[in-house]
Amino acid sequence: MRVLLFTGKGGVGKTTTAAATAALAASRGRKVLVVSTDPAHSLADAFGVPLGGAPTHLQDGLYGMQVDTQAAFERTWRDVQRYLLGVLERAGVDTLQAEELTVLPGAEEVLALLEVRRQVASGTWDLVVVDCAPTGETLRLLALPEALRWYVEKVFPAQRRALKALRPVLSRVSGPAVPEDSVFDAVTTLHRELTEVRAVLTDPSASVRVVLTPEAVVVAEARRTLTSLALYGYRVDGVVANRVFPAGSDDPWVQGWVAAQAEQLAVVRADARGLPVLVQTYRSAEPVGVEALTALGAELYGDADPAADADPADELLQVERSPEGFVLSLSLPLARADQLSLSRTGDELVVTVAGHRRVLALPSALCRCVVVGATLTGGRLVVRFEPDPAQWPVSMGGS
Ligand SMILES: Nc1ncnc2c1ncn2[C@@H]1O[C@H](COP(=O)(O)OP(=O)(O)OP(=O)(O)O)[C@@H](O)[C@H]1O
Ligand SMILES: [Mg+2]
Repeated sequence: MRVLLFTGKGGVGKTTTAAATAALAASRGRKVLVVSTDPAHSLADAFGVPLGGAPTHLQDGLYGMQVDTQAAFERTWRDVQRYLLGVLERAGVDTLQAEELTVLPGAEEVLALLEVRRQVASGTWDLVVVDCAPTGETLRLLALPEALRWYVEKVFPAQRRALKALRPVLSRVSGPAVPEDSVFDAVTTLHRELTEVRAVLTDPSASVRVVLTPEAVVVAEARRTLTSLALYGYRVDGVVANRVFPAGSDDPWVQGWVAAQAEQLAVVRADARGLPVLVQTYRSAEPVGVEALTALGAELYGDADPAADADPADELLQVERSPEGFVLSLSLPLARADQLSLSRTGDELVVTVAGHRRVLALPSALCRCVVVGATLTGGRLVVRFEPDPAQWPVSMGGS
């Protein structure tokens, strides 16, 4: 079982590449589902056939689906959103989480993710290919449960108990700001489900491929995506350069593009630091339909297996013993030290890189340590911890 996610800037060819990968894998004998988390539903346009809310048969071993919007879920989701934002406005939660909440996407994307998890768990598929929203917005959303963990697990139950007693009084005073029990249930359920979705998508069997076109603006954004995906704990196992002009043309206009693209491809290869960079040429027509997509996939992967396992060598997050205590290290390719900040709040370590923030729940041993230093070397953030004598009466010096 393998899960492949495709993301990248708007319009670069995510849907096409996801569909081509799925079509090729199916033509080579795997049972494949391709699903889009994009409410625009362009996956159906790529295949040139309508797709339903259940897996729709496209070709031997190849199925596609678009998640149906359920009005009921949307209503609940809106209640949840309103409630969470209300909570934040009343400053019950610090600004950190308020910022996290501003990335809350629409109900359709959340629904699609829940459906991805269900399909992965069904055991029906050898490969599930996910056509994601631009530049990992959806994947960022999945950091939300981690950011809200403390709130949902500790504050929430107490608040809920308190509110139960106070609701009759409070609702007269503050009106709809006091949530209904159903909203509490919805928030708790959503928190659990998103945690499960994240577990599926950060599992070693899942990886992300970043799609780009070799243009300076797109490449710059792809660099930031590579950093933020690692920050949030997603394994990237390849970069797809799409719409690459074939060399050898006599036309000066094409030659100009070929030269400019070659320059950007060199930047991409350097940035990828050993990750495979696969190239997909600019076709003379839109690759629409299973046949055209399978051909595109064959060009992209050649003899390689489109669903090959990701290299597990680069541990995204690692905690090791050191002579002084512990060392926590986090893969952050292409991150710059001047865009990085680190803070510690109780049991959590907050890492911010260029506006992206990850709240890492510290393993219990580290909770009783103090941070004594941090460096950014070789694409990894290395944070050194030493036992806090006040919290750790057991001497660490011996054994
Ligand atoms: N290699 C290619 N050659 C020719 N046309 C292509 C190629 N790749 C993609 N296209 C076309 O470019 C358009 C955009 O591609 P696609 O829909 O896959 O992009 P996307 O990244 O999913 O866009 P969005 O961000 O809107 O979801 C489509 O019309 C598609 O057929
Ligand atoms: Mg798309």
